[in-house]
Amino acid sequence: MTFKEKYGNTALVAGASEGMGAAYAQALAARGLDLVLIARRKEPLEAMAHKITEQFGVKVLHINCDLAAPDAMQQLIHAIGDRSIDFMVYNAAASYIGPYLATGLPTHMHIARVNMLTPLAMLHYFGGKMAERRKGGIVLMASIAGFQGSGYLSTYAATKAFNQVLAEGLWYEWKSKGVDVIACCAGATSTPNYIKTNPGKASSLEPKPQQPAQVVEECLRKIGTTPSFISGTGNKLVSFLMRHVFSRKKAVSMMGDSMRKMYGMRE
Ligand SMILES: NC(=O)c1ccc[n+]([C@@H]2O[C@H](COP(=O)([O-])OP(=O)(O)OC[C@H]3O[C@@H](n4cnc5c(N)ncnc54)[C@H](OP(=O)(O)O)[C@@H]3O)[C@@H](O)[C@H]2O)c1
Repeated sequence: MTFKEKYGNTALVAGASEGMGAAYAQALAARGLDLVLIARRKEPLEAMAHKITEQFGVKVLHINCDLAAPDAMQQLIHAIGDRSIDFMVYNAAASYIGPYLATGLPTHMHIARVNMLTPLAMLHYFGGKMAERRKGGIVLMASIAGFQGSGYLSTYAATKAFNQVLAEGLWYEWKSKGVDVIACCAGATSTPNYIKTNPGKASSLEPKPQQPAQVVEECLRKIGTTPSFISGTGNKLVSFLMRHVFSRKKAVSMMGDSMRKMYGMRE
């Protein structure tokens, strides 16, 4: 059975204009699925939609929507109309690097909206319809940063733990309904966002960044076989050390120390 036969005709990618989201869009189009692509900025999203249509000949609907908006779900329902969403990737994320108290509460609330509240609403709506049809696939992007407390990235890392645990729970609930759910726990990946915010290696343990397409291909191979996975050999190895060899206290301290060093935090 092909990927398209297994999951259906149309995939939605939330956060699709560049990096990992664009790689998901391209990989799904290469498997013959039509696309619904979402991002805030108009030009990059339009350009990505155009490129994919040219390259793969699939239909692409692009929607400019801020997934932090309280009415994001209504905007999406309105724009998508009665199209059936058969596969969904929630890739968009907000983050803040710095001491927790050095920014206002609205920053943390914004991260919670993009990374947790909107995915909950989209899972309820689109996942609910997949469960009714007894067919579908869902990817939630998580991160190895969410495997332990990550100082100076505390809120973001906590939301990534939320995504992993949520996907794992729904994997269990929905496997009997024909819907595969997976959390993709990525490590450093060379996306424009990562390159913009990363000042360099902080620890000799840190694996080399992966390419977005590597993460995506591993994820699309793994979905349906496991509730969550860690992308790349280097990340699997480091995560094994952090979770099973070092104590929790040691792992949390190492993570905070490397963030402090990498970003020259003074607090
Ligand atoms: N890159 C890494 O090293 C890494 C490591 C571990 C996990 N991850 C996870 O992988 C995913 C992708 O990460 P990335 O940061 O590298 O991003 P990316 O996939 O390169 O790009 C983020 C995409 O999301 C869109 N987006 C961001 N905020 C949005 C919002 N509020 N509403 C709508 N669209 C929005 C962006 O477009 P607009 O700006 O136009 O909206 C862009 O298309 C995230 O979930 C992240 O937590 C990344």
